[in-house]
Amino acid sequence: MTFRDDPLVFSFSTIEPGDGQRWSTWPATTPSERGPRPWPAWLVTSAGAIDTELGVVKGGKEADVFLIERAVPDDPTQSTILAAKRYRGAETSDFHRSSQYVEGRKMRNTRDSRALAKKTSYGRSVASAQWAYAEFVALSALYERGVAVPYPVQLHGTEVLMEFIGTGMSAAPRLAQIRGTDDELADLFEQVVEIMRGFARAGYAHGDLSPYNLLVHEGRVVVIDLPQLVDVVGNPAGMTLLERDCLNVCTWFTRRGLERDPGELLGDLVVELFG
Ligand SMILES: Nc1ncnc2c1ncn2[C@@H]1O[C@H](COP(=O)(O)OP(=O)(O)O)[C@@H](O)[C@H]1O
Ligand SMILES: [Mg+2]
Repeated sequence: MTFRDDPLVFSFSTIEPGDGQRWSTWPATTPSERGPRPWPAWLVTSAGAIDTELGVVKGGKEADVFLIERAVPDDPTQSTILAAKRYRGAETSDFHRSSQYVEGRKMRNTRDSRALAKKTSYGRSVASAQWAYAEFVALSALYERGVAVPYPVQLHGTEVLMEFIGTGMSAAPRLAQIRGTDDELADLFEQVVEIMRGFARAGYAHGDLSPYNLLVHEGRVVVIDLPQLVDVVGNPAGMTLLERDCLNVCTWFTRRGLERDPGELLGDLVVELFG
């Protein structure tokens, strides 16, 4: 029997990525597009690793989140589940966040700014890559400050690969889906406030904080969805966006029966910002 006569033998005897697979993008990624050191012990960095798409966690307006397994074939010690957030081109997205957030953002070069303005397909990919870049940088900055965000594994074009928050292949529920006793809610609220303080100490507001962008994993709150991170002082709408984050959070807890005052929360965060 030869390989030419029986392609199956060939595919079993050599390892090549198949359908829904690719070689791990890690080895070809430049250091600036890799997550902060020290790298977590679970990170798979081997050049022999293969990424396998296991499914969609959630499709959205601006991005789709995929479940990815990064593993070295036949080595069970080198296997990890990641979340890949892939930004879409403008043709399937209204990029409704753009105008308010990107004001003052510097373009890498004039080719990029011209392409963006003309809305060419290259321009759309520039916009998607900018959102991915913004989210990767935000995750890295907050992770390094000890804020509860998923570990940012790497940036790969229009894709942000990050720690998957969940158990096995099931994503952690969003805060919006959580029912709890008063004590449990009070504890969750405190964790959200601690996250918001972490943002404020760094001069930021999340900018799109809601019970949909807070995951609850084994009792711990993790915040996600950071591409629009707001520089509270530098952005003319900074304070308004911080106020809105406070309102979204307090409204949700108050509806669940834990009365919380957005003005008080804002006051607390202003102390962190300027104190
Ligand atoms: N790191 C992650 N781990 C587990 N689930 C995630 C992760 N990132 C995103 N998700 C899931 O995907 C959904 C969409 O992600 P998100 O970053 O909020 O994008 P968007 O809201 O812009 O579509 C989240 O509500 C969450 O359920
Ligand atoms: Mg979201």
